[in-house]
Amino acid sequence: MKEIITYSEEETKNIAKQIAEKMGKTGIIILNGELGAGKTKFTEGFLSYFELEKEISSPTFTIINEYKNKKATIYHFDVYRLADIDEFYAIGGEEYFSKGICIIEWGEIIQEALPEHYIKIDIKKDENNLDKRILIIEEK
Ligand SMILES: Nc1ncnc2c1ncn2[C@@H]1O[C@H](COP(=O)(O)OP(=O)(O)OP(=O)(O)O)[C@@H](O)[C@H]1O
Ligand SMILES: [Mg+2]
Repeated sequence: MKEIITYSEEETKNIAKQIAEKMGKTGIIILNGELGAGKTKFTEGFLSYFELEKEISSPTFTIINEYKNKKATIYHFDVYRLADIDEFYAIGGEEYFSKGICIIEWGEIIQEALPEHYIKIDIKKDENNLDKRILIIEEK
């Protein structure tokens, strides 16, 4: 387990880029943290490492967005709106795990569908500093 403190959106994106650098063609990252914690900003940084950023749409209405080029295939999930884990199975969520890198906002909701190995990142806000975040990174 590793704890990293960031003091800006840019710093959080840079942490994401450092993690992106170490990823293979597949792999799962789950992002947990309250509304506005920085899950989507982290994802933007991650995508930018692969030059996939463009305008990232927060996938609030689509559960899964695909970003793909010659360097990588990335599936960005936001599972907040799923009623339960059965809905995740119903949309074939697990099938993406072998197709590319999967980044899953609110991943704790579908934790039991995950394979043995994944990276879990909890992002915590600080009530005294609007721009501070604590990233708790665990490799399972
Ligand atoms: N250190 C920081 N790291 C990341 N974001 C920060 C930081 N400080 C301030 N912010 C701001 O916090 C907000 C994070 O928004 P973001 O959309 O990434 O959150 P989210 O966790 O995806 O929320 P949601 O659950 O609604 O999807 C942005 O407005 C960003 O500028
Ligand atoms: Mg988000």
